[in-house]
Amino acid sequence: MRRILIAGNWKMNGSSSSTQTLLEGLKQGMGEVKHADVAVCAPFIYLPQVADLLNGSAIAWGAQNLSEHSAGAFTGEISASMLNDFNCKYAIIGHSERRSLYGESDELVAEKFAVALGAGLCPIICIGELLEEREANQTEAVVGRQLDAVIKRNGIEALAKGVIAYEPVWAIGTGKTASPEQAQDVHAFIRQRVAAQDASVAEKIQILYGGSMKPSNAQQLLAMQDVDGGLIGGASLKAEDFLGICTAAPA
Ligand code: 13P
Repeated sequence: MRRILIAGNWKMNGSSSSTQTLLEGLKQGMGEVKHADVAVCAPFIYLPQVADLLNGSAIAWGAQNLSEHSAGAFTGEISASMLNDFNCKYAIIGHSERRSLYGESDELVAEKFAVALGAGLCPIICIGELLEEREANQTEAVVGRQLDAVIKRNGIEALAKGVIAYEPVWAIGTGKTASPEQAQDVHAFIRQRVAAQDASVAEKIQILYGGSMKPSNAQQLLAMQDVDGGLIGGASLKAEDFLGICTAAPA
């Protein structure tokens, strides 16, 4: 049985004081969360504060990106070993905003996956199609290509050490959610693609859904057979909303 993972992606939101309020609220509500693992991916600069506040709690934490380099003259970048210094468990890799706004290619994302794994972090690799790609019936081609790049660079067994997040770009921050059936179709496609190379990796790997998941739709999405959790943007910024998703996980 795959565990449900609910991970918050705060993106570039928050402050020291809102981080404190949010995490205190989450810690208080965690007693109600029975069937999900929970994590928050915070802006780099708040990770020391997050680590202090969450140390010893049931909530894991991580970053939203990392450098493909280990150290050196890379102004403004953050390395995997720096994330280890603050006990990050996860690093989001290849979010669609990194791909579209910062030009991250499939190959770069695959390299970052390798670097994260090499440092003992658990990469959450994001894949997903644009609206025009969905309308042109290219969802499977796009998602397959993005996934294949990671497998080609890292091997199929390495994939099992990470987490996949299917995030249709048209559903991110738009309030437009994929229907449970739309999500299930793509999740099943992803799992089959992995199974074609290794059935046991396919059985094991968690595939999260991301894109306007909120308390009102989480239960239906999380009930789908191949949906193993959520990567949550906007609704991860309020303790009540995020906990509402965490408690919607099926037993
Ligand atoms: P929203 O939940 O705000 O749509 O964002 C999803 C996302 O991009 C998570 O990584």
